[in-house]
Amino acid sequence: MANTKPLKLINIAKRYKHIKPVPRMPNFAAWIEGVDLTHPLSEPVKAELRQALFDFEVIFFRPQVITPKQHIALAKVFGPLSGGSYFNRHETEPQLEVIESDKDTPPQIDSWHTDISWKLNPPLGTAIQITKTPPAGGNTCWISTSKAYEWLSPGMQKYLEGLTAVHTWEQAAFREKLGEKGDEALIAAIKAFKPVVHPVVRVNPDSKRKCIFVNSDFTRNIQGIDRHEAAGILHFLLNWLKKPEFMVHHQWEANGIAIWDNRSTQHYAVADYWPHHRVNQRATFDVPGTKADKQNVAKSVLKGEKLL
Ligand SMILES: [Fe+2]
Repeated sequence: MANTKPLKLINIAKRYKHIKPVPRMPNFAAWIEGVDLTHPLSEPVKAELRQALFDFEVIFFRPQVITPKQHIALAKVFGPLSGGSYFNRHETEPQLEVIESDKDTPPQIDSWHTDISWKLNPPLGTAIQITKTPPAGGNTCWISTSKAYEWLSPGMQKYLEGLTAVHTWEQAAFREKLGEKGDEALIAAIKAFKPVVHPVVRVNPDSKRKCIFVNSDFTRNIQGIDRHEAAGILHFLLNWLKKPEFMVHHQWEANGIAIWDNRSTQHYAVADYWPHHRVNQRATFDVPGTKADKQNVAKSVLKGEKLL
């Protein structure tokens, strides 16, 4: 292993009085014990859940049968609900997205990404519950982009901090799907949803950790350096992020729940369960105080709509 200094571990006993985080890796991916999500949460519990999300970047709850309204209330603990993405909606609670795969609908989110990094203000995070688990397979994996940064050499850290990268939905499968609808829809979306620029190293304002902020779905190129050097650096980073030391593989039980901080993690929904049936119900939330995209921006891209 190559990192130069030991990780400063979070003092859980000192920091948490109302919930019990149980880390699956040092400072990353914690089970949360002692919280009943079927009842309204007290303000101290909510505050510690927010702290746990910032401390551990992805948090897990053992299976609990919650109502769609309780699922939405849980997401709102962390921030205002965002417009979400292009997935189908829950029939009675349209703020919830439902991602369902079976033999006729193959899974299609088996790629590493930060959600909607092609917007200037990507969502803070997402709360998901797998309500129907396949008999085998169907794990979700997360990587800690802060751990990935920490393990880089000081020289590489310094070099990356001066760089910016272009993110665009055109890099992902959206483009191909939209292309099937014809040139007009594609051109309208290209005009409406321009590429955005993010620093290659972003600071998570709540955890204060530095994070590598490039992902294989949406990052097109690194700016300000020769394009061959840029391609090599991007290739290196996307591979580096996939080191097992930065990654948790989560095996689901039906009605288990996970919540991730989209600013410090990337995720990958493993598609190995297909053609079995799997149902994922989720609510996405924005950073409090930022201008939320009430419009369903990813769906708008697919339709070739313009943002208001
Ligand atoms: Fe995602």
